[in-house]
Amino acid sequence: MDVRALPLSPEDWAGHATPAWLVVLPADPKTWRVTGAIADLAHDAVRHGDLELKNAKLLYVHRPAGLKAQRLVLVVADLGAKAWRGAVAAGLAALKSSGASAVVIGWAGPEALDAQHAELATTAFADALYTYRHTKPSAPAAAALGKLALALDKTDKAQLAEVRAGLARGKAIAAGVTLAREVANRPGNHCTPTQLAAQARALAEEHGLGIEVLDRKAMARLGMGALLAVAQGSDEPPQFIVLRYDGAARKAAPIVLVGKGITFDTGGISIKPAAEMDEMKFDMGGAASVLGTMRAVAELKPKVNLIGVIPTCENMPDGRAVKPGDVVTSLSGQTIEILNTDAEGRLILCDALTYVERFKPAAVVDIATLTGACVIALGHQHSGLFSADDALAESLLGAGRRSLDSAWRMPLDDEYAEGLKSHFADVGNVGGRAGGAITAALFLKRFTAAYRWAHLDIAGTAWKSGAAKGSTGRPVPLLTHFVLDQAAGSSPTSAT
Ligand code: BES
Ligand code: MN
Ligand code: ZN
Repeated sequence: MDVRALPLSPEDWAGHATPAWLVVLPADPKTWRVTGAIADLAHDAVRHGDLELKNAKLLYVHRPAGLKAQRLVLVVADLGAKAWRGAVAAGLAALKSSGASAVVIGWAGPEALDAQHAELATTAFADALYTYRHTKPSAPAAAALGKLALALDKTDKAQLAEVRAGLARGKAIAAGVTLAREVANRPGNHCTPTQLAAQARALAEEHGLGIEVLDRKAMARLGMGALLAVAQGSDEPPQFIVLRYDGAARKAAPIVLVGKGITFDTGGISIKPAAEMDEMKFDMGGAASVLGTMRAVAELKPKVNLIGVIPTCENMPDGRAVKPGDVVTSLSGQTIEILNTDAEGRLILCDALTYVERFKPAAVVDIATLTGACVIALGHQHSGLFSADDALAESLLGAGRRSLDSAWRMPLDDEYAEGLKSHFADVGNVGGRAGGAITAALFLKRFTAAYRWAHLDIAGTAWKSGAAKGSTGRPVPLLTHFVLDQAAGSSPTSAT
């Protein structure tokens, strides 16, 4: 993927030879800065009803008269981040099925493009080009499209520098999102805990990250009774992956990301219904987002220390599987009554959350496809954010807003924890149907007293069902922005 800035003012656009122009027009034609053949064509198309002046409406023109470009796509949008990304995505979707090998994007409105626009165009480009082929080599040949340039007024040097920074960030985030999508899309039999650990090792090798992987024995020695209870029903050995990016002084407290890595969730003995159970291969979306974020951060090299932790195993029913009512002892020493073996995410996470105390973290964020209840509460737009720490919550929300990878804060009042009480252990692993995403978060909170902590429930945002079935790579953009913000000097206390 080749992405760059092209100093080229609107009066030069028609004379620029390129396989494709993607010209983004604001809805008000009086504000258009395009001139000559492009302006004539656009005005004519509007006059004849071929281009409606509404967000994301577009017109594709093959071999446009008076232009050196082989193709022209006109697409309407104002400069708001969402509209801009939507317009670019729509334009690229139209060009993806063309023979164009490169595209130049030009903004015809009066305002200047900034770093955010550059970043969003880059990530939209990567999203448009990604095709899953690991177990489907027959998938349609990759689009010819491989190069993207953003046309910028050649006189504005400051803008050029800002946009270049946005492109670099976009490229790194895109690579992280693509990695997360690829890893999460792989079926359970092609992405076992062992294979996930191999992916992490390859990532570490390629990008100079530190890595350590604990096996079942090491976990048992430590006393990770909750994680091992989930893993015991599967023939696939569990893995506990620790990745490390050292960008700051050794003594600087690290940011820690913990990703749920259930490579397949059958529900265990509390087995799930058959319909759509295949989608539970995505139950390692949190883990995939940790890998993707480590990938992006390794490329951008911010001055921050970052640790990525991935507890990973399968949740299977079996003669050895953990049973409802079993009581296990977590790494924290708290005993847990496993009333529902399908609430397994919180069991592997709680041991990971205790494990990371050793890093004396500046902040810990866990990311998990944790509850169906979160999907009911928030749908597929916002990830659920839970934290008792207002400043940390604000910085995560801000990172989500700026990257268009948004989260919505949910409550975490202790009163909700009532249902987690157990007659036979310190805590039960489920709290009833009401407020299920909140009780899950409150279960995790019990293990996070030693540091500042936030939890992202990505059950509704990590993948899409239906026609566009597949991983989204979320929340890699949010997490990458969050980590970069910490390096920029703003501790999680300084909200954005
Ligand atoms: N991985 C699921 C959560 C999930 C469900 C994500 C549907 C996306 C779509 C999790 O392990 C789970 O099974 N949670 C249970 C918890 C319940 C037993 C308290 C759930 O949400 O039903
Ligand atoms: Mn489950
Ligand atoms: Zn699960």
